[in-house]
Amino acid sequence: MTQTAHSAKQTVLVTGGAGFIGSNFIRYFLRRNPLSIVINVDKLTYAGNPENLKDIEENENYHFFRADICDKAVLRGIFDKYMPDVVINFAAESHVDRSIIEPEEFLKTNIYGTYSLLEIAREKGIGLFLQVSTDEVYGSIESGSFREDSPLSPNSPYAASKAGADMLVRAYNKTYGFPAIITRCANNYGPYQFPEKLIPLVIINALNGKLVPIYGDGKNRRDWIYVADHCSAIELIFKKGVPGEIYNIDSGEERENIEVVKMILKEVSERIGKDVISLINFVKDRPGHDRRYSMDSSKLRAMGWSPSYFFEYGIRQTIDWYMENRQWWQRIISGEYMQYYERQYGAR
Ligand code: NAD
Ligand code: DAU
Repeated sequence: MTQTAHSAKQTVLVTGGAGFIGSNFIRYFLRRNPLSIVINVDKLTYAGNPENLKDIEENENYHFFRADICDKAVLRGIFDKYMPDVVINFAAESHVDRSIIEPEEFLKTNIYGTYSLLEIAREKGIGLFLQVSTDEVYGSIESGSFREDSPLSPNSPYAASKAGADMLVRAYNKTYGFPAIITRCANNYGPYQFPEKLIPLVIINALNGKLVPIYGDGKNRRDWIYVADHCSAIELIFKKGVPGEIYNIDSGEERENIEVVKMILKEVSERIGKDVISLINFVKDRPGHDRRYSMDSSKLRAMGWSPSYFFEYGIRQTIDWYMENRQWWQRIISGEYMQYYERQYGAR
């Protein structure tokens, strides 16, 4: 097995770059690799927001295409024009609750979309394909941690669709010798996260004086990683990772949901000078709700990576960001998102 070739100037095709992690990654990557070119292919679903990259729109090394990763003809045209060295596939339907209500788009984008990207990337002989996957493919674990060779046991339609994509990526590597790497990351949080996810939802509801829904008993555990740490891990893996390998990415910052919610509400209370702890509202549990996620990321850490953000610090940074960028989320919490929210939690 050989290490991935890396030169200072690369053309990187990022999919889903208008979403939460993709936009953070593009900003991070262009800052650190100013000679590289980034092509962002994003369908702009409800979760894709061009405002997430407004500050780099004018960068001449950045190009945006509104396109669906399921559309092979369009992808072929983009690959022919830019001849990317690397593809990083962030594009996905990403929210577990939506996948429970309507799984179809998850199967289309997460499985068929990954397949069509793999096909075009293989046809064009790209140097490396990095599939951004998730700890959810392993399912829930009561104690201990999953390793990269642990069996997959997804429990939601979202997790099953991501596991399906991982299997395809693996098959392309085994069958065609296609140079692909899979990364599996824990729960991200930070700037530009869509307000349907727990942490931004809690911050925004607290600022708006709305009830904060906690599923079940609130004792489900997640490992929380600040998005910049996910970005640094991906950059290291695509520069130094070995094709055919899988890399777990986690922070070790494991918390019960109720602990996370209380911490945020305490921080917000202090900032706004009003007690918002009473907004906690225990609601019906998520069907198939995974109790605990935990991964062993020693393989990645042996390559020299470690997270830079302690959870308490990252949470404070995140709350500050949502308080300073109200316009960003106020625009989102009107429109389509509201229909989803009302289906999920009833009218506000
Ligand atoms: P997100 O929902 O914020 O963004 C997804 C982006 O993909 C959006 O910009 C959307 O417009 C785009 N997209 C969706 N369908 C598309 C299609 N058919 N063609 C082109 N673009 C399309 O998601 P996120 O939280 O930023 O997650 C990004 C990736 O990271 C996903 O693959 C997700 O499975 C994975 N991941 C997320 C987390 C997390 O905690 N958020 C953790 C581990 C892995
Ligand atoms: O673990 C990685 C995964 O993390 C990613 O692959 C997914 O794309 C991402 O959405 C996230 O999935 P989760 O389901 O873990 O994240 P979410 O923010 O939806 O929920 C976090 C926990 O909080 C989970 O146990 C469910 C709970 N929850 C969530 C919401 C939205 C609540 O109690 N109340 C809520 O309103």
